[in-house]
Amino acid sequence: MRRKIVAGNWKMNGSLKSNEALLDALKKASIPNNVDVIIFPPYPYLIQAQMNLQSSAIKAGAQNLSISEGGAFTGEIAGNMIKDIGCNYVLVGHSERRTLYGETSAIVAQKTAAAITQQLTPVLCIGETLAEREAEQTQNVLTEQLQAVIEHCGIEIFSKLIIAYEPVWAIGTGKTASPEQAQAVHAFIRCFIAKSDAKIAALVQVLYGGSVKASSAKALFEMPDIDGGLVGGAALDATEFTAIISAAS
Ligand code: 13P
Repeated sequence: MRRKIVAGNWKMNGSLKSNEALLDALKKASIPNNVDVIIFPPYPYLIQAQMNLQSSAIKAGAQNLSISEGGAFTGEIAGNMIKDIGCNYVLVGHSERRTLYGETSAIVAQKTAAAITQQLTPVLCIGETLAEREAEQTQNVLTEQLQAVIEHCGIEIFSKLIIAYEPVWAIGTGKTASPEQAQAVHAFIRCFIAKSDAKIAALVQVLYGGSVKASSAKALFEMPDIDGGLVGGAALDATEFTAIISAAS
């Protein structure tokens, strides 16, 4: 039985003051027993979230990490620093990193390995663009993104990570994939992993991301291969995010 996860990616949003209000509101939310909640604030606020959430079941993680362990890499953050402040999760390969900052699948695979080395749980983000979907390339794109990780890290790494399927055309556009559309892709992802290891495929949690709202969450989370969500915009609104958490119970 896979636990549900509701994760909130704050992206480049927030301030000390607005975060405090959001965190305080989230801490008041009742978290269902079968749901894990993780938020991903921007780096400068990670320790704020980590300290604020100490007595809460909600966990905090980082949005990115370096492939390097430390040294002369201006502007980079090492996995051991994320671990050092008590966080256990990190996003890798978000589509905004892939498309805006040139992260290739090979780099994403290295970041996945770097996270595991520091005993962080990577949330490996994959997904196709609208052009790729329209050209019926969705499965090929996901295969390439997953295969890079399998080749660099080995299939066993999928027992230590979380996958987030985020169709790029659904991110920040208000266009959620229908539950059936998302389920079809999640089933494909699980089948693809099962070709290498059926046991790992049955256990790996696969989240859906892309314009998840309280109104769409329940139908998505009820799908057999959807194990929760990676939420962007709606994670910045305590009422909306709390309702999404409830929808996962
Ligand atoms: P939105 O929920 O704003 O579409 O963002 C999704 C996302 O990119 C989460 O990582």
